[in-house]
Amino acid sequence: MHKGRQNMKNIVLLKGDGIGPEIAAQAVKVLSLLKGFALQEEDFGGCAIDKTGEPLPNGTLQAALGADAVLLAAVGGPKWDACPKRPEAGLLGLRSALKAYANLRPAVIYEDLKRISPLKDEIVSRGVDIMVVRELTGGIYFGKRGRGTEDGAEYAYDTEKYSEKEIERIARMAFDIALKRSKRICSVDKANVLESSRLWRSVVNKVSQDYPEVKLEHMYVDNAAMQLVRDPSQFDVLLTSNMFGDILSDEASMLTGSIGMLPSASLGGKTGLYEPIHGSAPDIAGRDMANPIGMVLSLGMMLKYSFNMDRESLLIEKAVRGAIACARTIDISGGCKSVGCDEMGDIIAGNFERLLREDV
Ligand code: IPM
Ligand code: MG
Repeated sequence: MHKGRQNMKNIVLLKGDGIGPEIAAQAVKVLSLLKGFALQEEDFGGCAIDKTGEPLPNGTLQAALGADAVLLAAVGGPKWDACPKRPEAGLLGLRSALKAYANLRPAVIYEDLKRISPLKDEIVSRGVDIMVVRELTGGIYFGKRGRGTEDGAEYAYDTEKYSEKEIERIARMAFDIALKRSKRICSVDKANVLESSRLWRSVVNKVSQDYPEVKLEHMYVDNAAMQLVRDPSQFDVLLTSNMFGDILSDEASMLTGSIGMLPSASLGGKTGLYEPIHGSAPDIAGRDMANPIGMVLSLGMMLKYSFNMDRESLLIEKAVRGAIACARTIDISGGCKSVGCDEMGDIIAGNFERLLREDV
């Protein structure tokens, strides 16, 4: 059979800034064990600003739009904080251009890591298996904003705006996911104060009528933040807006022991975008200390959601579980001896290679 890039799955890889290149290298080790993928690297984030003045250069955007999937490590850093267009603006531009309105962030606690979760044993022993479904291309991240002066003093504002259509499509995504899980959704809003949340709640209620087998509950965001640490086992699918989802997913990640553990998939458009939920951690960049698991699991989500490779995706999870049982990066070491990012990647890739051979 003729083999060429047209017969390959084309992945655009955006390594980005800070620890981005280090963790991306570990995902590449894992991906290289599978046939049929072509990787294309593009500049994105702060490193793209340095080269072109733009965090999302047009060439990168066009490559991403034409790819079968986009795998992204992390962007940002203090070096670019004062830039007129920050790396984060590039990230929002990319999510928006890819129409990736649904951000799936699974927070799962691994048996071997229960000991290092900051929550008490009796709380984590009930288990943590939450799927945060975060709206990603609307709300206050994309609303009208501005600055001005009034009575000689500066002011600034950002606005939260959601349309019925935006709420409905993310709600449907969450309900469809809930059907494949334990059929429970908690929709998080601030409907006791915000008009946009009141619309959110009514649209979610309307969508729920099409899913009679899914149990829907609503919760105010302040209560949800508290309940997440009081008893995370009560949550399954957690549906929420862009900003609330940003905050609650960082909180949920800590239940698992480290923010370095959480992957994400951003879906909705033709091309899926996959990235760990953490940032570029400039303080530990270049020191071989980063946890590559969120990144490697993001690759796992890519295989599942963009390519229906459920078996390989599960084997990546299994490879990660196996790695954790014998080696840890410093963030999840619980004070014991730790390994570097590169070695952790080798162990995961080694496990994956063996599992691919054994599990046919
Ligand atoms: C995330 C990050 C981003 C966000 C930043 C880097 C713009 O915190 O993916 O959670 O706020 O969405
Ligand atoms: Mg965040």
